[in-house]
Amino acid sequence: MSETLLISGASQLLTLRGRGARRGNALSDVGIVKDGALLVRRGLIVAVGTRKYVEALPESRSAEHLDLGGRVVLPGFVDSHTHLIHAASRAEEYELKIAGASYEEIARKGGGILNSVKKLRAATDEALQKRALHALQEFAKHGTTTIEAKSGYGLDLASELRVLALHHNATLGRASVEIVSTFLGAHVVPAEYRGKSDGAERYIRMLTEILIPEIAERKLAEFCDVFCDRGAFTREQSKRILQKGREFGMTPRLHAEQLSHTGATQLAVQLGAASCDHLEQVNRADIQALAKSHTVATLLPGCDFHLGLEKYAPARALIDAGAIVALATDYNPGTSPTLSMSMILSLACTQLRMTPAEAITAATINGACALRREEKIGSLDVGKQADFAVFDVADYREIPYYFGVNTCVQTFKCGRIIHGGDANQQ
Ligand code: NIG
Ligand code: FE
Repeated sequence: MSETLLISGASQLLTLRGRGARRGNALSDVGIVKDGALLVRRGLIVAVGTRKYVEALPESRSAEHLDLGGRVVLPGFVDSHTHLIHAASRAEEYELKIAGASYEEIARKGGGILNSVKKLRAATDEALQKRALHALQEFAKHGTTTIEAKSGYGLDLASELRVLALHHNATLGRASVEIVSTFLGAHVVPAEYRGKSDGAERYIRMLTEILIPEIAERKLAEFCDVFCDRGAFTREQSKRILQKGREFGMTPRLHAEQLSHTGATQLAVQLGAASCDHLEQVNRADIQALAKSHTVATLLPGCDFHLGLEKYAPARALIDAGAIVALATDYNPGTSPTLSMSMILSLACTQLRMTPAEAITAATINGACALRREEKIGSLDVGKQADFAVFDVADYREIPYYFGVNTCVQTFKCGRIIHGGDANQQ
């Protein structure tokens, strides 16, 4: 492949160009160029605009040319909340839930996250790597070019380090989906610390005094997350853990107000967290606090759908108040076993009442903001990475419209095809 690539034949090129984080009405502005083209040099975008404009540039003449044949092009999805590394599904719990057991009831009986912890500790590195590689290839097939990945199914020193090391593993790098690593040691208190009154305290001391310094030393995580909820960690415990993470260079983010209202959203804003995620139980004051902050409100409708819950996060109120709303899959074996961002877009449209344009903005540039990477990814603009996905639809609104169907036919990471082969041969 020559070092300069001219990509044309985009019937709709959704650039998402402009300043970083999108709030309010700006979520609707996806910056469409009709009959659009991109010029890419060494993985970075050097020109973007109409075919006529880009083809007339002197550098386009010597560039290798790819014609997309009239398809719709988007920035690659930025999936800013996943639990990538886990050993197996929890299909057995799915049936219990269908029969009427709640997520929390199953967790209290030793299922839930602890079930995945048992499975992960028993799995070999090879098995974990194989499952994760397959997932990454599926992410690429669905148009995702960057994911955040959380640890949190190890919950002991060796297992957490093993999972975080996998985030940086060269074999997983072969899938070419960029992984942003987050430490979620505070997912729940593991079984071996339970049963005694000071168990949670001892576990938190292990996290803050041993694990966090070790992770920082080995540079294994950029972010630190806590599951702040009923049955997991309190607001005060979360604060201590996130402050310690921050002392060691990890930016805070939080699982907030998913099952119960804990005050985690206010904590996230107070700490200047990169994002606070879930938000089904937020109140009006939380929405106002988010609207005034730079903390991204990341919504995960896949969880509510999979758990069969009726209460979704108040996306409209968050957008209308001016919060930076992002969407992510929350790919995990317990509450959201999907890695399809298009499916999340469909849920965002029908359940969160977001428009297709708002949903796409939330899954691209606002997702990039949640990972503090809005300068590099999330939109198609000069100087940014040529990360984009090609959809075989006539109009971008058909991406969520065809729910449960993958219309992504080709994906590019830094100008390189990572899914779908040559468009000319399709
Ligand atoms: O984001 N809420 C906490 N963590 C995950 C679920 C983890 C699990 O059940 O395995 C979530 O929903
Ligand atoms: Fe999660």
